[in-house]
Amino acid sequence: MAIAQLDQTTAPHVLLADVAAALAAEGDIVRKCMHVLDHVTRATGAGECSLWLVTPQGLVVAARAGTAATPAAELAPLLESGDVEQGPLVVRRLVAGGRRLGALVLRIEGGVPADVVTAFSAIAHMLAPALAWAEQSRAFVAEADQRARQLDEERRLIHQVVDSLPVSLYVVDRDYRITVWNRKREAGSQGVSREQALGKTLFEILHRAPAEKLRRELDEVFRTGRMQQFNMETRATGEARTYRITKIPMQAAEGEPFSHIITIGEDVTELTATSERIERTEQLAALGQLATGAMAEVASPLQSIAEAAETLTQSLDELAREGATVPDHATDAARTTVREAARCRGIVGTLLEFAHAGDGERAVFEVGTVIEQALALLRPLPVFAPLATQVFFDPDVPKVQASPAQLRQVVMALLQNAAEAMDAKGTLTIRARSGTDPREAVIVEVIDEGRGIPRSELRHIFEPFYTTKGPGRGTGLGLSICHSIIARHGGRIEVDSAVGAGSTFRILLPGAPIP
Ligand SMILES: Nc1ncnc2c1ncn2[C@@H]1O[C@H](COP(=O)(O)OP(=O)(O)OP(=O)(O)O)[C@@H](O)[C@H]1O
Ligand SMILES: [Mg+2]
Repeated sequence: MAIAQLDQTTAPHVLLADVAAALAAEGDIVRKCMHVLDHVTRATGAGECSLWLVTPQGLVVAARAGTAATPAAELAPLLESGDVEQGPLVVRRLVAGGRRLGALVLRIEGGVPADVVTAFSAIAHMLAPALAWAEQSRAFVAEADQRARQLDEERRLIHQVVDSLPVSLYVVDRDYRITVWNRKREAGSQGVSREQALGKTLFEILHRAPAEKLRRELDEVFRTGRMQQFNMETRATGEARTYRITKIPMQAAEGEPFSHIITIGEDVTELTATSERIERTEQLAALGQLATGAMAEVASPLQSIAEAAETLTQSLDELAREGATVPDHATDAARTTVREAARCRGIVGTLLEFAHAGDGERAVFEVGTVIEQALALLRPLPVFAPLATQVFFDPDVPKVQASPAQLRQVVMALLQNAAEAMDAKGTLTIRARSGTDPREAVIVEVIDEGRGIPRSELRHIFEPFYTTKGPGRGTGLGLSICHSIIARHGGRIEVDSAVGAGSTFRILLPGAPIP
């Protein structure tokens, strides 16, 4: 509370009015009391005077006119004393609700006139409850302050929670106004800052869909009170991503109308892609089984066709030799049948051999042989046709003890990947050399001049189902199978890659035990 600073010429009634003003903060009643005292003082023409309000916290008001002064030290005992009327001094205790709240002290040089004492006593009497009230209201204010601080903290905590969620989230009210907008919604090139979003209608901020559609979506949730979920494709960040959008109706309490809707957006691109791939792989596996069964069924009629065609060709040749007229197109047709049937048998044979490659019986052999086999099988494929291939075998490469079928599968998978990365140009190199470490005595490298693998992709390529090839083109299983086959053989696979320059896949295997 301000302490009234007055000079010596200040008239007592001005002094009291100022004290009243200073005390006004303690309640309107104080000012009224002082007003009364002011009148009384003026009426009695009192001389120099001083006035103090002392509380346990110290001197709250000290005001004086003229030279009269009482040092604070002298006032302290007055707080403890009873009511005093002694020469120039009048002391009145301030008691409210049985509690001692302080003392009001008046000093008028030359004695305090009797009516001033009366008025002063009345003031003290009324000031006490005012002080008590002020004290209480201070407590209320402090409590209100604390509540406000608590609320602030709670609000901050909720903001932090909402901001820490790995999803984007916003909340709208019944008027479609945005009341919560989390940090994740601020991120990205299309992000909108919280300051911009809060208080605006959703339609002013979100432009992913026409306002009418957004409004219909929200109205539906408000009307039914049921959560809604759907997937949404977007290219907002430049690349295609899938978001799962969930709209949750919110009500203040059970039975009350829904007041807000929480909308959550989760990036489920990877999840969706993985489940699609698993589905595709399952389909492929089922198809593979079907195909293997079908191949086995086809193999024997194919054999009969080949034999029948052979017999037919020989018979036609014989008839011709005996002078019969055999039309050329009949001979050609029989020969074509023989040739194509042989080709079909070749394909069926290879496929059946592949289907049974899983049994993994081990043998000791030179890796060069499986590399040659793999190349022989792959070269006719269109993806290899435009490529130049070169093969280097160091003569001192030790033999391996491995499943030839499985190792061939690995080399083929690596060659296939290499060719697919090269986009029909450049040279594909396969190299077999010996390593210095006996546990890695055999090294096979498949070196391409393809697109290379970005660092961010490198750590994923051996994961099952990881593929960058379009739907239906890659299962993403090639490298993960390679990895597990090589690991089962006690070896490992390494990759060096530079984007735009090419990749080297390196298989390191132990040599076969020396007999
Ligand atoms: N030589 C390479 N050059 C560039 N990228 C490669 C190469 N080899 C593999 N990759 C990357 O690694 C991913 C995973 O390869 P992986 O062989 O496991 O599956 P895939 O080739 O996509 O499918 P699948 O082998 O089942 O046909 C590929 O999609 C490709 O992005
Ligand atoms: Mg592959």
